[in-house]
Amino acid sequence: MNNQFRNISKEILSDSNLVKDFLDLKQKKNAILLAHYYQIPQIQDIADFVGDSLGLSQEAFKTDAKIIIFAGVHFMAETAKILNPDKKVIVPDLNAGCSLADSCPPDLFKKFINEHPEHIVISYINCSAEVKALSDVICTSSNAVKIVESFPKEQKIIFAPDKNLGGYINNITGRNMILWEGTCEVHDIIKTEAIINLREENPDAKLIAHPECKGVILAMADFIGSTTALINYTMKDPAKKFIVATETGILHQMKKSSPGKQFLIVPADETCTCNDCPYMKMNTLPKLLHCMKYEEPELILTTELIEKAKKPILRMLELSN
Ligand code: 13P
Repeated sequence: MNNQFRNISKEILSDSNLVKDFLDLKQKKNAILLAHYYQIPQIQDIADFVGDSLGLSQEAFKTDAKIIIFAGVHFMAETAKILNPDKKVIVPDLNAGCSLADSCPPDLFKKFINEHPEHIVISYINCSAEVKALSDVICTSSNAVKIVESFPKEQKIIFAPDKNLGGYINNITGRNMILWEGTCEVHDIIKTEAIINLREENPDAKLIAHPECKGVILAMADFIGSTTALINYTMKDPAKKFIVATETGILHQMKKSSPGKQFLIVPADETCTCNDCPYMKMNTLPKLLHCMKYEEPELILTTELIEKAKKPILRMLELSN
C-alpha cells in the first residue's frame, strides 16, 4: 500500500459542493458507494448501502453498477473485487488497512495450516485475500455460528484470525477449534474496568458488544452481535440506554434509528474517550470526490488470487442464504 493522497488537488480540497459533485459524478458514471457502519457519518449518509461485512459482501455480489466505491477498509474492498473481477473497485485510501488482517501474515498462516493436517480452515472475513485463498470457507460475525455448525461436530477446524471471535464461537457451539492468535486493536483494548464503571453509573443501561471484544467483556454483555445485529437490537429492545462496546462509527445509525435512546461508548482506557478505528477513519469526503473524479486508487488483484479467494467467499454466501 502506498500513499495515494499526497497530491489530492487544491481544487477538491476547496470544493464547497463536495457532496453534490460526488453524487452527480456517481450517477453519471454508474457507480455505487458501499460504506461500513464505522465510517464517518457524512459518508454513511451519502452511501447507497451501509452495512456490516456480510451485508456489504452480499450487496457487492449483486450490484450491476460499473464502478464500486468502497468506503471501509482494505480487506472489505478486496472482497468486493474478488466478487466482481470485471468491475472497477475504487477505495478512498489504500492505506486503510486492518490490525486484525495484519495479525495473520499469509506465509506464517500457511505454515500453521501445514502443522495441523486434517483440519479445515474457517477464516473470518477480516483477513487478506491471500489468507482467504488458503481457507475453505469465510465467515463474518453475523454468520460465524451458522458456518461453523455447517460442519460435523467431529470435524477439526482452524479458525483465524480473531481469537476473541473464535473463542466466543467455541463457547456457543461447544467446538474446540484451534485459534489463530489475532485480535482487532480497537476491540481488544476495551477494558473491563471501564465497563464496570459505566455500569455502576448507569444501572439502567444494557451492555452490547461486538464479538471481537475480549471474552471477559462478552461474558458480561446483554447482547453480542455484528454491527447490524447490534443496531437492530437497540431498535427492538425496550431499554432506553445502551453501553456500546465497539467502534464509535456505529453510534451514528443507532442515534438515527432510535432518536429517543441514549448510547454510551465504552472508552478504551482512561486516556481515551473513544474507540475510533484509525483505518476506518482514513476515509474522508475530499478523498471520496477524488476517487470518483479520477477513478483511483483502484484496487487490483491478480486473476490467480481472485480465483483462489473467491471459492471460500462464495461458499460463505451460499451457506448464509
Ligand atoms: P461487522 O460489521 O461484520 O460486524 O464487522 C465489523 C468489523 O470488522 C469489526 O472490526
